[in-house]
Amino acid sequence: MTGLYPDTRLRRTRASGWSRALHREIVLTPADFIWPLFVTEGAEVEEPITSLPGVSRWSIDGIAQRAKEAIALGIPCIALFPNTQADRRSDDGTEALNPDNLMCRAIRAIRDACGDDIGILTDVALDPYTAHGQDGLLDDRGYVTNDATVDVLVGQSINQAAAGADIIAPSDMMDGRVGAIREALESGGHVNVQIMSYAAKYASAFYGPFRDAVGSGGLLKGDKKSYQMDPANGEEALREVALDLSEGADSVMVKPGLPYLDIVRRVKDRFEVPVFAYQVSGEYAMIEAAAAAGAGDRNALVMETLTSFKRAGCSGVLTYHAPVAARLLNG
Ligand code: PBG
Repeated sequence: MTGLYPDTRLRRTRASGWSRALHREIVLTPADFIWPLFVTEGAEVEEPITSLPGVSRWSIDGIAQRAKEAIALGIPCIALFPNTQADRRSDDGTEALNPDNLMCRAIRAIRDACGDDIGILTDVALDPYTAHGQDGLLDDRGYVTNDATVDVLVGQSINQAAAGADIIAPSDMMDGRVGAIREALESGGHVNVQIMSYAAKYASAFYGPFRDAVGSGGLLKGDKKSYQMDPANGEEALREVALDLSEGADSVMVKPGLPYLDIVRRVKDRFEVPVFAYQVSGEYAMIEAAAAAGAGDRNALVMETLTSFKRAGCSGVLTYHAPVAARLLNG
């Protein structure tokens, strides 16, 4: 203070709507979203997911419709997750390698319906295909083995790329998988297929509704702590990111989202590469539950959290709220 008045009045630029618009640092657009979608067998099937109110599993015809909807809303990319039929799940998850599995048929149907107007991101991990719900192969002690799992993940990635996936997104947290997948994509002629690695993926309590959606929740025994990261660790996330980048990842992901925005910011500052965050199923459910309980305005909660991802340094966000938020942004 000099004399009677503050030297600087930060409230001055906040005083009117036009001025707030002019000074806004972060602008969210529908192009910031990747929309996760759950695929199921059948025709004209829509199965609401109880633990994810407002989100459904769709049969392939419905998924192609959702892809068109995404294009119309300005959402550039969708992420696919299959709810594999129970009789196609096995201990070794070999359905992941079937060129006619649910995922590959969905990819081809979207490509037929939408051409190259939408990006298709596919998750690489074995949990939608294993009878035990773990992301990899188990040894006789029930431990998820690394190197044997990586061999299968490479096959799964090539299978998805051959079906037409644009972005391969390994979510399994095995060591060395990004390099192995990159090499196989190159030698298989898929030079322009990207890898977005789930580089810093935490062993989180926020994945429950997703596991319901892909049908792995009831099957899963134990937890995923021997491969997913300890929520207490930040430095280790930076090591994970450094390794995945050195092995050829085009972009990296931090997951879950809101509880790990500090990791997003550290990764962005350290590596200056495209960083994405996954606002996971439990985060979506939490916002919906808060709004339903009258604890906040749903649309405002959605837009504030999505804005926080961009402010933290994200190039984009995987979010189940993508169509809701895009509609709000499109007015
Ligand atoms: C599979 C996978 C999971 C999610 C994305 N890919 C679940 C898990 O690791 O158990 C979670 C996404 C969400 O909760 O929305 N490896």
